[in-house]
Amino acid sequence: MTGRGRGGAGKRGGKGGAGKGGSAKSGGKGSSLHVSVQRTPTIRLKRKKGRTNSQQRWLQRQLNDPFVIEARRRGLRSRAAFKLMELNERFDLLKPGARVVDLGAAPGGWSQVSADIVGPKGSIVGIDLLPIDPIEGVVFIEGDFLDPEAPDHLMRELGGAADLVLSDMAASSSGHAGTDHLKIIALAETAFYFATTVLTPGGAFVAKVLQGGTEQGLRTLLQKHFTKVVHAKPEASRKESAEQYVVAIGFRVV
Ligand SMILES: C[S@@+](CC[C@H](N)C(=O)[O-])C[C@H]1O[C@@H](n2cnc3c(N)ncnc32)[C@H](O)[C@@H]1O
Repeated sequence: MTGRGRGGAGKRGGKGGAGKGGSAKSGGKGSSLHVSVQRTPTIRLKRKKGRTNSQQRWLQRQLNDPFVIEARRRGLRSRAAFKLMELNERFDLLKPGARVVDLGAAPGGWSQVSADIVGPKGSIVGIDLLPIDPIEGVVFIEGDFLDPEAPDHLMRELGGAADLVLSDMAASSSGHAGTDHLKIIALAETAFYFATTVLTPGGAFVAKVLQGGTEQGLRTLLQKHFTKVVHAKPEASRKESAEQYVVAIGFRVV
């Protein structure tokens, strides 16, 4: 497991300013983190030799996805950033000065959103299997969250109890819905057990899950430790996908 993200960005270090890498660019009037996106006319992509049908469909979808277009316009690294923005608007998760853990952070969209809100007095530590370009104010660990050393490493970098643990972790798709569902629930459960060791009383936990049955077991587990537990599907989460997020607020030590 490497110590820090590519480029060695330390806390508030690195070159991740706005633009290519850093924080979300202002979308004009008011908050740069507002979630409304504009619908644009459909772009039809010409067929190209050597491109498979599924590549063609993926490209076509990307070109016409309003969240992809808006993310690019605002300098956000992922369309997923809009999911956290919406969850934050609904559940008031991120606060100035907060300590945040971002599990499955690459390419860094959720960290960008978090860094914008927690500000210079906050602390964010992200981990991913993939390298992540630096973002000012975020420490990235390149490694496997399931590695037994990962929890201690994350806690050391965070420098205190967390106010929020986020998990957008997803293993690459196996093509078999049942297997993917079990894998993602296992990641979410591991993230939950980690959260119980690092969260401050009153803290919050968010994890990506897939609908498919066993997410109810995780919900029951969470209900023992949090005052409020809900499932939410942000607008940026594709309708055809089984993806949703479990949001747990008001951590209590039991
Ligand atoms: C949907 S992406 C996260 C997107 C991110 N929230 C953003 O806004 O940019 C899911 C990430 O989970 C990571 N991941 C999956 N399993 C992991 C593990 N065991 N440890 C660390 N990261 C993991 C993947 O590498 C992938 O980058």
